Amino acid sequence: MTISIPELALVVLVGPSGSGKSTFARRHFKATEILSSDHFRAMIADDENEQSVTFGAFELLYLTAAKRLAAGRLTVIDATNVKADSRKECLQLARRYHVQPVAIVFDLPEGLCAARAEGRAERPVAANVVQKHANSLRHSFHMLESEGFKSIHVLATPEEVDAVTIVRERLPVNRREETGPFDLIGDVHGCIDEFKELLDKLGYVVSESGISPPEGRKLVFVGDLIDRGPDSLGVLRMVMQMVETGTALCVRGNHDDKLLRKLQGRDITIGHGLAETLEQLAKEPPEFLDQVRLFLESLPTHYVLDGGKLVVAHAGLKEHLHGRVSDRVRAFCLYGDTTGESDAHGLPVRLNWAEEYKGRAMVVYGHTPKLAAEWQNKTICIDTACAFGNLLTALRYPEGELVSVPARQQYAEPRRPFGATTPPSASAAVP
Ligand code: UTP
Ligand code: MG
Repeated sequence: MTISIPELALVVLVGPSGSGKSTFARRHFKATEILSSDHFRAMIADDENEQSVTFGAFELLYLTAAKRLAAGRLTVIDATNVKADSRKECLQLARRYHVQPVAIVFDLPEGLCAARAEGRAERPVAANVVQKHANSLRHSFHMLESEGFKSIHVLATPEEVDAVTIVRERLPVNRREETGPFDLIGDVHGCIDEFKELLDKLGYVVSESGISPPEGRKLVFVGDLIDRGPDSLGVLRMVMQMVETGTALCVRGNHDDKLLRKLQGRDITIGHGLAETLEQLAKEPPEFLDQVRLFLESLPTHYVLDGGKLVVAHAGLKEHLHGRVSDRVRAFCLYGDTTGESDAHGLPVRLNWAEEYKGRAMVVYGHTPKLAAEWQNKTICIDTACAFGNLLTALRYPEGELVSVPARQQYAEPRRPFGATTPPSASAAVP
């Protein structure tokens, strides 16, 4: 039996005393990854079995778990966790640090657990205690999913436990091994002519058979490939092919996400140029619509690149959310740091997270149309409002050079004025 666990996860072991949780943890995880309640009892009272210090032991355990999760380290909680209250603490931690909670449940025969717990030389546990744990576990099964565990693995026999192989799954947002050099492209929004011209200016050769990049370079799109401009499908086709052949990476923008939800049959309000994109799509065969849906589904919320030195997200991302997966991360990447309120133009009020950014990674993003690409701390917005008649911009990484082409015309009317706080320039120094 293979248990797949995200590389960054909070693994919660659940099972009565004697069910073999600690034995299992030692076999499959690094010693430093395992936080065991017994260990923390011993840290306080020199005795793994000193029940009077249980409260303090769990305080330390959860504090250590919090520090590890903040540091982006997989963490295993080795305690009985047979009660909803103790699991709640774990789930709160997983939520707070945007990591996936995984439950591994040891539902072994009670008699076996009791025999093992009683017979354990170093720390025997009485059969009536095991029985209480087993009863609590029985009441837990139907609750685990609704409590919030993203995956639940139940092991019911010693043979099943012995047969487990744990595979650590890479998170789709993690592409640290991709070191570039990259050409990062701002929001294209269907502006196919400017897109082709920009590719040409960057040294990419576009032909019938595909696209050849300059030696070693790769494109990275900050999302919002579609809507507003004249040929959303043309842009989609090109980027889909580039991503498929490994010439490009692309993160999901809010416009891409809205089209995806429409293609998934969900109810959405159609605005900001999506109607035209849907009209174009209506003329396409169903297979193409399927391809578009699959492509959009495959786009991650953000990418962590170049050993963690570069983060690309459509609307940017605060440092504590880099490389993590949660609804909050998704919402931030798609819409930025919003207050939940609307402005006089009916658009969401956006907070300037970049102003406060002190992170180590450079964050490249789009979403907020500007007159010119703009550095703020170690972040840069490269959405230069091509569809609104301004520029389409690329950032060369690691060079820090900006390359832009002017829009051939204004394709859409902005709903609120856009601007830049710094004057347009041909290049900008990487801070
Ligand atoms: P554990 O000490 O691993 O159980 O195994 P546990 O679930 O973590 O128990 P608590 O909650 O901390 O009290 C209990 C005994 O069973 C043996 C171990 O060597 C230990 O003595 N054991 C465990 C086996 O003999 N075979 C196994 O597959 C697992
Ligand atoms: Mg144990």
